[in-house]
Amino acid sequence: MAVEMGPEMMFEFLYNLPAQFEGCLKMDFSKASGLKKEYANIVVTGLGGSAIGGDILRCYCQSRLPIPVVVNRDYMLPRFVGPDSLVLAVSYSGNTEETLSAYEDAREKGASIIAFTTGGKLAEMAALDGNPVITITGGLVPRAATGYLFAPLVLVLERLGLVSGASEDVKETVTVLTQLREEIEPGREEDSNRARFIAGQLYQRIPVIWGCSSTSEVAAMRWKGQINENAKAPAYFNVFPELNHNEIVGFEVPEDLVKKLAVIILRDPDDHGRITKRIEITKDILQGKVSSVAEVEARGNSFLAKTYSLIYVGDYASVYLAELYGINPTPVQVIDYLKARMAE
Ligand code: PA5
Repeated sequence: MAVEMGPEMMFEFLYNLPAQFEGCLKMDFSKASGLKKEYANIVVTGLGGSAIGGDILRCYCQSRLPIPVVVNRDYMLPRFVGPDSLVLAVSYSGNTEETLSAYEDAREKGASIIAFTTGGKLAEMAALDGNPVITITGGLVPRAATGYLFAPLVLVLERLGLVSGASEDVKETVTVLTQLREEIEPGREEDSNRARFIAGQLYQRIPVIWGCSSTSEVAAMRWKGQINENAKAPAYFNVFPELNHNEIVGFEVPEDLVKKLAVIILRDPDDHGRITKRIEITKDILQGKVSSVAEVEARGNSFLAKTYSLIYVGDYASVYLAELYGINPTPVQVIDYLKARMAE
């Protein structure tokens, strides 16, 4: 998506994230009501900034829904998709080729489909097929539209009677983000601004972001993606406890490169007690090996508020990091180039 905007635009997008959630609470999802039925599974299909909302939904539903929620980032859907599946096809532009292909696959497999998009071919195809199209606000870059790309998914599931309490969780997210914003926005100096402080730790280093399975894992994934796309820098993520069974062994050599790693651990008060113990031991193992280890603690009560509180700090940190490198966070020329080459 070729949206050419100056560096200050990304801060404006970030500032407006709570308003995105508020806007979604006012959206009309009645056109999806006809799809109320018992499903065997739910598949969210999308890529990049349009897919990560699917991961948030997957984690959100893990303890709430008796059926699996799967995220598909490919041209074709898994074999299990069929007439008892609900497929949520998400594309900000509406023109991402993998998502359009997966949409066609969903149609061929007889699944119920809802499209979430600003327009493009996805909106056209879904409208032609008589499938509900949830139109989301355009004019942003996908990763800056994370509220619009996630909240409608969970609110539609609420509307279909598949989950309850989602609206309340979205409201709490607005409250938590609005308070947090005061502490991490550009007006706040580094000594009292956690996101700026983190950016300083990541500058000239390779970020390694660790979350915890079922709690902060999606936030860790988002941090990585935002550092890649906003700061145009490499970053890697993993989750506890899995990383204790492989990655943690890999901090020995080459010593000079390991010294360039800056580790960020995303923590949640609801992390399993054994995970908390693992984190403490892991920090001991890393001592003296990596450049730094910093932690960010989730805020709020609900899974959504906590997840987005971690995401918000990472989003701001990635833009501060872009600033430190003198890079415009908004354009993603490499993605545009790839899409153009693929369209040839
Ligand atoms: O951040 C981005 O621009 C990308 O990750 C896009 O979200 C991704 O390429 C998919 O495009 P779309 O969101 O328009 O389907």
